[in-house]
Amino acid sequence: MAAPLIRVQGLTMAFGDNVVQRDLAFDVLPGEVLAIAGGSGCGKSTLLRHLIGLQAPAAGQVLHGTQDLYAADAQTLATLRQRFGVAFQAGALWSSMTVGENVMLPMQLFTPLDAQACEQAARFKLALVGLANSFDAEPAQLSGGMRKRAAIARALALDPPLLFLDEPSAGLDPLSSAQLDELIQHLRDDLGTAVVMVSHELGSLFALADRLLFLDAHTKTMTALGPPDDLLHHGPPGVQAFLRRDATPTETSTA
Ligand SMILES: Nc1ncnc2c1ncn2[C@@H]1O[C@H](COP(=O)(O)OP(=O)(O)O)[C@@H](O)[C@H]1O
Ligand SMILES: [Mg+2]
Repeated sequence: MAAPLIRVQGLTMAFGDNVVQRDLAFDVLPGEVLAIAGGSGCGKSTLLRHLIGLQAPAAGQVLHGTQDLYAADAQTLATLRQRFGVAFQAGALWSSMTVGENVMLPMQLFTPLDAQACEQAARFKLALVGLANSFDAEPAQLSGGMRKRAAIARALALDPPLLFLDEPSAGLDPLSSAQLDELIQHLRDDLGTAVVMVSHELGSLFALADRLLFLDAHTKTMTALGPPDDLLHHGPPGVQAFLRRDATPTETSTA
């Protein structure tokens, strides 16, 4: 089996004395969609922050390849950060730049590409996410779903093998949400991009996730890890219940 992109070992996450989750252990494999699910406030977004170097573990390690993310020197960390893209809920586009300029920015900062090559690459990324005609648009002119796809285009600017998304379809209408699911599927199947995404949309989980990591809010640890269909039939009762919820979501919080 291919070496994992990320290995999480014995991870405990806390804010001061308040432990959010403990004893997390899992890998992120090349080319997989790994979905993180669990009730509101269980620590999904906090886990993403730990995975990308924004919040240090209270205990345990986050390895990117063989490198401990929180033991890396500044230079190593900067290099590691270029190997993944991030599009979080709060990861808005810069409103003072056009959509195209937003996507070109990481290329201008981190690659030797000249202006023309940056523009060409940025147009390619925008076409990839279905926004071929939005290069010169202002972010404010885009719909919510288009803005999320533009943020993903920017996250893909450096061709990372790994992409992190926090509730990408939150607040979107069903059509935009379906387009995002298709985009994520395309990234995995045609580009081989691994995606770690927080989602509690059952439709997306079953359509997209190769594996599901379930964080339990009460026991404060992971209670399941595996393909959603396996967990639906053989997972712990709490996870089966979560996966069997009917179409009316009872939880819409994205805290
Ligand atoms: N900046 C913070 N300071 C203190 N506690 C926080 C902070 N951010 C989140 N928390 C707490 O950590 C827990 C997990 O939050 P979060 O990761 O946002 O949950 P989720 O994304 O699963 O809804 C919650 O109980 C929340 O109150
Ligand atoms: Mg969250």
